Amino acid sequence: MPADIALVRLTALGPAAEPLRVDGASRGIDFVRRLFEDWMSGANRFDQPGEALLGAWQGDRLVGVGGLNRDPYAADEGVGRLRHVYVLASHRRLGIGETLVRRLLRETEGHFRVVRLRAVSPEAAAFYRVLGFSDCAEPAATHVIPVTPDP
Ligand SMILES: CC(C)(COP(=O)(O)OP(=O)(O)OC[C@H]1O[C@@H](n2cnc3c(N)ncnc32)[C@H](O)[C@@H]1OP(=O)(O)O)[C@@H](O)C(=O)NCCC(=O)NCCS
Repeated sequence: MPADIALVRLTALGPAAEPLRVDGASRGIDFVRRLFEDWMSGANRFDQPGEALLGAWQGDRLVGVGGLNRDPYAADEGVGRLRHVYVLASHRRLGIGETLVRRLLRETEGHFRVVRLRAVSPEAAAFYRVLGFSDCAEPAATHVIPVTPDP
């Protein structure tokens, strides 16, 4: 990841996040719209135990985002869910997405046993496989990774 990118826990989605919202909307990525909608309504602010929303900043510009929730589709409280991982099209293939996800997985330590997600495209699936996720055929997830070492 470029040295001028800093990962910071997000506590607001203000005007600095606008380019990211516009980038997602122009590419028809619906989860970016939902990230903003759910944040504004208070439906999801990644503020429950073990949860986090990280931003990748280049100066005062938000160039990437990624969140981790407890998985609302799982009855088991030990299941986390990666959500809304998005990097500006102009900033892809620089290692920002990978660093965001690895940091989010570190944040899960002690909270979740596994983390899963639904990949939105074959490219996203390839990205998660490179990061060590396995394919899974569950109704609510396409990829999963254990986050605690086997005893
Ligand atoms: C998927 C996404 C988050 C990846 O972010 P990124 O910052 O470009 O990813 P990285 O640079 O950290 O990639 C790490 C590795 O993952 C793999 N990878 C990343 N994007 C890939 C793609 N489009 N196709 C295949 N492999 C890919 C590569 O092996 C890459 O390493 P390399 O560049 O040295 O070959 C980004 O492309 C994106 O925001 N896409 C649109 C939204 C999306 O699909 N989000 C995922 C939600 S399920």
